[in-house]
Amino acid sequence: MSHVLDNLIALDPEAQALLFREARTANAFTSDPVTEDQVKALYELIKWAPTAMNAQPMRIVLVRTPEAKARLVTHMGPSNKVKTDSAPLVAILAADTNFHDQLPKVFPHFKAARDLFKDDLAKRTHVATTNAWLQMGYFIIGVRALGLAAGPMTGIDAEGIDNDLLAGTGLKTIAVVNIGHPAPEAWFNRSPRLDYSEAVITL
Ligand SMILES: Cc1cc2nc3c(=O)[nH]c(=O)nc-3n(C[C@H](O)[C@H](O)[C@H](O)COP(=O)(O)O)c2cc1C
Repeated sequence: MSHVLDNLIALDPEAQALLFREARTANAFTSDPVTEDQVKALYELIKWAPTAMNAQPMRIVLVRTPEAKARLVTHMGPSNKVKTDSAPLVAILAADTNFHDQLPKVFPHFKAARDLFKDDLAKRTHVATTNAWLQMGYFIIGVRALGLAAGPMTGIDAEGIDNDLLAGTGLKTIAVVNIGHPAPEAWFNRSPRLDYSEAVITL
């Protein structure tokens, strides 16, 4: 389908549909697996997301064993339990509050970068979470780029997940994302989006 102003968009229409216009949040999945290679391919796309000081604080915790999944489900909100239980792959997306240890590698031209953060957990937590959220947006689009669907959820007990599955890691959960091939009943009705005039303010 063609859209007004399409000629201004460099991405081809099929890719626009796959990544944006027709991409949906999935609430149910088929049992088709999501392979390790698919996750690697996803990571190779989304690792290029920009982050402050190139810090890349988002960590992807793949929940694959039935035991780990059962534990995770106990921390999901009531309406999210079934979705996570039935998804072929579930990822906990977390912010690494110790991201500064990687700064010498990922931001090597600024030697003092690590020291800016080493004694300030509050600052690290802020930078880690804000940038991990940004990376999560790329993660969702990356899932779509593989022809899969994502179901991101923040209706979770994030602290419960941190204290249980992520204990002792310095990781802080920001969301849980179900990933897979959407089942026919995957979709809720599409909710309206704000118009340009409602969302864009020009000063
Ligand atoms: C950060 C985030 C948190 C969300 N949390 C939940 C959730 O806890 N449970 C749920 O069923 N849907 C959740 N959603 C799904 C949204 O309601 C959905 O993405 C939105 O309504 C747009 O739907 P669409 O992509 O099908 O148009 C979440 C989405 C995002 C991006």
